[in-house]
Amino acid sequence: MKTFTTRENLSEYLEQLRGEGKTIGFVPTMGALHQGHLSLLALARQHTDKVVCSIFVNPTQFNDPKDLDKYPRPIASDTEKLLLAGCDVLFNPGVNEMYARNEHWHLEIGELEHLLEGKFRPGHYQGVTQVVYKLFDIVKPDIAFFGQKDYQQFLIIQKMVDMLHLPVKLVMCPILREADGLAMSSRNIHLSADDRQHALVLSKTLNWLKPNFDTNSIPILVRKCEEMIKAEPGVDLEYFEIADGDNLRPANQNTKNIVALVAAKVGKTRLIDNVSLQ
Ligand code: PAJ
Repeated sequence: MKTFTTRENLSEYLEQLRGEGKTIGFVPTMGALHQGHLSLLALARQHTDKVVCSIFVNPTQFNDPKDLDKYPRPIASDTEKLLLAGCDVLFNPGVNEMYARNEHWHLEIGELEHLLEGKFRPGHYQGVTQVVYKLFDIVKPDIAFFGQKDYQQFLIIQKMVDMLHLPVKLVMCPILREADGLAMSSRNIHLSADDRQHALVLSKTLNWLKPNFDTNSIPILVRKCEEMIKAEPGVDLEYFEIADGDNLRPANQNTKNIVALVAAKVGKTRLIDNVSLQ
């Protein structure tokens, strides 16, 4: 595996690979890698000749400086995991390499920016699109792989790609879970043993919803799910929504692509999860 910390050296190397006719797959991450990240990498290896993974904790997408400070950065073990997973190229730039100048970024994302996650993390998706745009510009991947875990993030990046006619195909990869159902996340290491148990209410509620989806109206189902989550000690529900998977507006009987999405604070740790229903 080759590791690069500067755009220039990475671009030069990737240019060479493209010259040899190789297709490039890209998995952008913020590190603290788990099996969920590595499953994206495995899929990328199936679809493209060479796989680039980036590890960059992007400051512009954090609205809480404390959250940015405590974000885990275990670069040595991450590098080891990528090696074992068969990654070809690691891009691990510093903040100054990515944000050399004090630049302005604003993308007109529309309503999707302000729904659900957007309501609780204002400015978050401006930071995400800013860094993903930069990374796409440097890596110029044929295909980029993102997790369904961050469903809204995927929709927004797809919207950016469509709006700006970026020459990249996006693939949405399934959510990887722990054996007991908890969605894997770099933030799970912050959960205490008690938090870890309480956090299961999120995946349990989404799991309950799947077979019960046709038994009640959507508003009743939303209320029941909210009640289940609010009844769990140590869990502070931020939102539970049964939404149209194309635009994340509340779903109705006529919606075809339906997804249920949840966000909650468990102890001090903010977790998100979702499930596709149709
Ligand atoms: P990060 O949270 O590190 O996630 C990197 C990628 O891994 C995202 O596409 C995310 O959806 C995916 N992922 C996370 N948990 C997963 C799981 N349990 N199963 C499958 N995939 C999972 O998302 C980001 O970083 C950043 O916002 C980024 C896109 C890198 C921009 O900074």
